[in-house]
Amino acid sequence: MTRSKTSSLNRRWATACGAAVCVLVWAMPVSRAQEAGTKAVSLDYEFFKNNVQPIFMAKREGHARCVSCHVEGTPMRLQEMSAGATTWNEEQSRKNFELVRTRVVPGNPGSSRLLVHPLANEGGGDLYHSGGKHWTSKDDPEWQTLAAWVQGRTVTQAAATGGAATAGNVRILQTNSAGDNVHIIDPVSNKVVGVIEGIEVGHGAVGSPDGRWIYVSNEAESTLDFVDVRTLRVMVKVPLSGHPNNIAISRDGRKVYVSVRSAPGGVDVVDTVARTLAKTVRTNHGIHNTYVTPDGRYAVAGSTPVGRINVIDTATDEIAWFLDVDLGIRPMAFDQNPDGSTRYIFAQLSEFNGFMVVDFAARKELRRVAFPEVPAAKQVKVGGNVSHGVAVTPDSKTLIVNSRLNNKVYKYSLPDFKMLGEVEMTGGIDPNWVTLTPDGRTAYVAMSGSNWTSAIDIASMKETARIPVGHVPKRNSTARLQ
Ligand code: HEC
Repeated sequence: MTRSKTSSLNRRWATACGAAVCVLVWAMPVSRAQEAGTKAVSLDYEFFKNNVQPIFMAKREGHARCVSCHVEGTPMRLQEMSAGATTWNEEQSRKNFELVRTRVVPGNPGSSRLLVHPLANEGGGDLYHSGGKHWTSKDDPEWQTLAAWVQGRTVTQAAATGGAATAGNVRILQTNSAGDNVHIIDPVSNKVVGVIEGIEVGHGAVGSPDGRWIYVSNEAESTLDFVDVRTLRVMVKVPLSGHPNNIAISRDGRKVYVSVRSAPGGVDVVDTVARTLAKTVRTNHGIHNTYVTPDGRYAVAGSTPVGRINVIDTATDEIAWFLDVDLGIRPMAFDQNPDGSTRYIFAQLSEFNGFMVVDFAARKELRRVAFPEVPAAKQVKVGGNVSHGVAVTPDSKTLIVNSRLNNKVYKYSLPDFKMLGEVEMTGGIDPNWVTLTPDGRTAYVAMSGSNWTSAIDIASMKETARIPVGHVPKRNSTARLQ
């Protein structure tokens, strides 16, 4: 069969009339996929719902959004959202999926109407789209996302590759506790490469394993905000059960655990696929920080009003065990046994200038390590929690831990707790939080009193950069973004 014959046989023109426009529609022949020599691929619904639909809602500078036109009048007519909703529900999403799939050729993005119609002609798109050209080239991340869907990518694959060393760019997410924005730092250039605006009193921020989303707990509105990495806009707000604090994400990216600080306290489990609050794990005390252990098996939540470490089994989202401590639980970090299971919890405690070590398997406190005392004249009395911010290198050999009171960042060896070095944060005030790069070489320390984030080279324990951020920076985390 020759190419021209196939084309003439399979191209069909039809007239479609919407409420506002009557246009000629080119029905994409399915056999074009075979013509292009691609093997059959199936389109993934979850990937469509998670990654493709947000593109229809995204606002691009100077452009009308796809949804603004495509819920009426156009031949490819998307479902209307329910009143007050910020996205489509399950049933509407399914209908959208069934519709939009007819505008693509599985396995062949370059022949898919969905991809070539809003793409600039010079960039490989077709001649004209009444809705305008939204992407200048196929390199556009949105175009790439659509292409990945058309090529049969699934959410699980996206999550799996999100964890691989090659996927995405490493970024440091820096929230600003007295600001209305979140800064995104490139740890290679040590420059701010993006700012998420419009989240007042953002508490915690984490990236999704597929690198497409940043989740931020919003203290001003008591919501978990879903930020699209491509546009840095808030696309979804999930109302929480109470006032949130810090957050953590499950390994597969399907659940975000949100600390609920207000009484009666608990951990909200947000389903990132359904975009709803799936469950609240009651803890009976306000929760300040929640973490997911490196093996993904537990969510560990610290209550501050009374000292309790709550360990939640992530398979059931029920409390597996807890440990009562005489002081409030502040930030925590975890190291691993050779089999990946959790060895120790390192917990900072209200008013203790050091940290506590908990043996995870034995479920009991092993010891407390106090920082060296510094002369009163050199102390920085910023109040309350004197030791705040702790992290473990991925090889489980080194602990990095802040002392606000001493205005220092310390390095300890694991598992023997020998102090290996320190950096005095001269010129700045209040090392309040810390996150590490995935290679374990650089620590990013939020300097709350100085509105910058310091980069510290862990081998030499030298400050190598100061990156100006927003007002009173606190929590930070490391993400890989697409
Ligand atoms: C200003 C209104 C408007 C906007 C914004 C808009 N479109 Fe369109 N779109 C139309 C109209 C009208 C048509 C039908 C006429 C045409 O094909 O040019 C259309 C046609 C299409 C078609 C072909 C439909 C079919 O039945 O084959 C696709 C695919 C499409 N648009 C995708 C998009 C995407 C994706 C976006 C956002 C990136 C978008 N459009 C934004 C108005 C719009």
